[in-house]
Amino acid sequence: MKRQLHLNLFFHSRGHHEASWRHPAASPLALTDIRYYQDLAQRAEAALFDSIFLADQLALGGDVAQAPRIWLEPLTVLAALAVSTSHIGLIATASTTYTEPFNLARQFASIDHISNGRTAWNIVTSWLATAASNYGGDKQVSHADRYARGEEFMSVVKALWDSWAEDAVIDDRAGGHYARPDRIRPINHRGDFYQVAGPLNMPRCPQGRPVLVQAGSSDTGRRFAARHAEAVFTAHMAKETAQEFYADLKRLAAAEGRNAEHVLILPGLSPMIASTEAEAQRLAREVNELTDPEIGRKRLSNRFGGHDFSHLPLDRPLSPEDFPDPGSVEAARSRTEVILNLVRRDKPTLRQLLGYLAGARGHFVTAGTPEQIAALMEDWFTDGAADGFNVMPPLLPAQLDVFAAEVIPLLQRRGLFRTEYLGTTLREHYRLPRPNSAFE
Ligand SMILES: Cc1cc2nc3c(=O)[nH]c(=O)nc-3n(C[C@H](O)[C@H](O)[C@H](O)COP(=O)(O)O)c2cc1C
Repeated sequence: MKRQLHLNLFFHSRGHHEASWRHPAASPLALTDIRYYQDLAQRAEAALFDSIFLADQLALGGDVAQAPRIWLEPLTVLAALAVSTSHIGLIATASTTYTEPFNLARQFASIDHISNGRTAWNIVTSWLATAASNYGGDKQVSHADRYARGEEFMSVVKALWDSWAEDAVIDDRAGGHYARPDRIRPINHRGDFYQVAGPLNMPRCPQGRPVLVQAGSSDTGRRFAARHAEAVFTAHMAKETAQEFYADLKRLAAAEGRNAEHVLILPGLSPMIASTEAEAQRLAREVNELTDPEIGRKRLSNRFGGHDFSHLPLDRPLSPEDFPDPGSVEAARSRTEVILNLVRRDKPTLRQLLGYLAGARGHFVTAGTPEQIAALMEDWFTDGAADGFNVMPPLLPAQLDVFAAEVIPLLQRRGLFRTEYLGTTLREHYRLPRPNSAFE
């Protein structure tokens, strides 16, 4: 079967643009209203997206006065979306640093049952420094320790998901036998961070294991993704760095003995779309004019682990010396490199840099006609930069609707995107194999 694009819809506030929540085209619903999320998921399903995705942070940001987010806890939202949709995949973020593997394995297996095999877990180690203070610690767990703990966490959750054989439940009412104990095994894990006896207290989930998604881009993050991820989210401001990332991750996955086709690379794409390029650019300017550079300055500081940028003037060209060394940043190291590459390449002023980051926080932002967006997607897809996209509409739901009505039909006409769902599970949409349990 011909290779086709995979499309994920990334939910964020009332759109990915930092000022989307104020724009007249944004949804009138509250960000605590489940109908907002149900409505978006249903629109994405009608457009045949593979999946939707909810990000998560474990602390309130310092920018709450002007920066709303998705406030509801992602796994709880997935349960609601599972019963209000029928085909679309459902991806939620959860942290390996701040939860127990038994809790997490149970929660995702439950959602996989509730959704009949449509769940995925976006594995994060939680880069936000303030998260630690909500979990009994006063100091952030270092980048290296977060990944070391994450690695052991993965062995435990995989073993728990595999602790029931496919045929463990017989539900033989006449004979009086519900399950076969010989087909359910403890895991007896004893490691540096976790002691977990198992087995999981729930039958094997419909997909065998939920689909595993990851978004680490540092060297350690990439190696982690190469071992575990079946889909990878990544942020790029240029096609060239996306190509470099794509080639590197596929190579690392192959070096781990995996089929590189079973690791889908989905870079972020935030398109402002209108019937003419001039109109799309006008719309982008209109939303940009609603931003406050001081909010952007705070967000930049968060990205760089709390580094103080308050003294930098807004209108002088930046140089790399204005930033701390990414190697010393304990937060999201790879995104700091994305930002520094842009500074080296374009020498923007702080105002210009913040304007760009306001669009989609360092993901690829563009404005154009449906034909231009479809051409860009085809180019990245056929030129070794992407297996699909993490679609990040700047305004929700308005720009999702334009994407669905205008861009998707162009992709379908070119044979690049499905015209109907061919399966019911996320593994089927992503064309991923179903993992065997430890019993086979
Ligand atoms: C599309 C996308 C979504 C992400 N979502 C989250 C999230 O919800 N929560 C989180 O803590 N980190 C999130 N991250 C951050 C990554 O998990 C990771 O920490 C970051 O890319 C830095 O990776 P590194 O530590 O390997 O440099 C996301 C990254 C990307 C590209």
